[in-house]
Amino acid sequence: MNILIVGGGGREHTFAWKIAQSPLCDQLFVAPGNAGTAAIATNLALGVNDFDGIKAAVLEHQIEMVVVGPEDPLVHGIHDFFLADEDLKHVAVIGPQKEAARLEGSKEFAKEFMKKQNIPTAQYASFTAETLAEGLDFLTQMKAPYVLKADGLAAGKGVLIIDDLAEAQAQLKAMLVDQKFGKASQTVVVEEFLDGIELSCFVLTDGKNHLTLPMAKDYKRIGEGDTGLNTGGMGAISPVPFVTPEFEEKIHQRIVLPTIAGFQEQNLPFIGFVFIGLIKVGDDPYVIEYNVRMGDPETEVVLPRVKNDLVELLSATAKGELNTVDLQVDERSATTVMLVSGGYPEAYEKGKVMKGLANESESILFHAGTQLAGEETLTSGGRVLAVTSYGSDFRAALKQSYATIEGISFEGMNYRKDLGFDL
Ligand code: AMP
Ligand code: GLY
Repeated sequence: MNILIVGGGGREHTFAWKIAQSPLCDQLFVAPGNAGTAAIATNLALGVNDFDGIKAAVLEHQIEMVVVGPEDPLVHGIHDFFLADEDLKHVAVIGPQKEAARLEGSKEFAKEFMKKQNIPTAQYASFTAETLAEGLDFLTQMKAPYVLKADGLAAGKGVLIIDDLAEAQAQLKAMLVDQKFGKASQTVVVEEFLDGIELSCFVLTDGKNHLTLPMAKDYKRIGEGDTGLNTGGMGAISPVPFVTPEFEEKIHQRIVLPTIAGFQEQNLPFIGFVFIGLIKVGDDPYVIEYNVRMGDPETEVVLPRVKNDLVELLSATAKGELNTVDLQVDERSATTVMLVSGGYPEAYEKGKVMKGLANESESILFHAGTQLAGEETLTSGGRVLAVTSYGSDFRAALKQSYATIEGISFEGMNYRKDLGFDL
């Protein structure tokens, strides 16, 4: 079967790496891809929201399965676009339909979903410009720190955590009235602050059956010791050492099962990956957020631990037959360390020549922001390269990633040297 992966980051290179290993995959395409995917697949110069361009490519290359990496095209309805088109409706699309993608596209929708399914999450209320006065009053009844979330997609920047009441009130007004995050903050969810350690749970579902994939933990802040600005993710580890069998069972019973049941009960057509952002408060799991896709860089440690043929898994998902597959997981730990451009997540330069990519090593290099220029590979984004390694535990795996990084360089290269510091 010919397969198209939509996206161009480290997550999509990891999907390509895994799918390319399957005898069930004939030709593999990635739109737009990067220098890493170019080595194992055919890159197509298409934007992820260019549905007409994607349609033309699917027809031209007789593609039978489309795996959607990022949230944007899902929230914009790429799956619905395929279903509504006579020429495309036979194509398997891995990724939820628009209505279900609202779980990521609207924080308020996700909170209402959780409330209906009785899934543990922070207490909340939501406000619009019309109800600003109530929102300001609501804040006075909450304890610091104050958590304000823009309802819509805001490229990971829409969540503010503020210690001071007056500042929180000013920001609520800025979001609702001055549209600080544009349309995304026309509605704002104000919620209770949960104090704990975060982790991510990934579930592959056909809408009724599911497989819980290995859990992971990512490191979002740019600075060591989890300081500084938020990034897309500076690294990840899997499994998560503090997830005991008892804690995992709580996640399963209180969160995963009611989530999948909710897709049926609330008529949300979901074929694809659910990424449940969790926080462990005391010994109990709470949901921080839903994403309707795999995480990046979590994918770079989760998929390398899945031993199954991924095309077999995804085909079973598309057919609604996930109950026929057993998940096989590599018992080793996997870690990934993200190499980023100097200055990221603020302004940074692109086009730096990368050296050392062809070195022999035990690690797997997943390209994120890279592009080919003749014989050379150049940086083309903030997050540049994810260096993944296996080990008997996360410390051994990290040691391997850091050793591999010694041989890789580009001007301004930065990375966190303290992953796992909190474990
Ligand atoms: P979100 O986009 O909802 O994942 O929020 C971004 C980040 O803000 C999360 O990864 C958490 O670190 C933090 N956060 C969100 N909601 C809460 C909360 N209720 N309590 C504590 N931290 C939170
Ligand atoms: N690593 C977090 C995300 O993919 O949203």
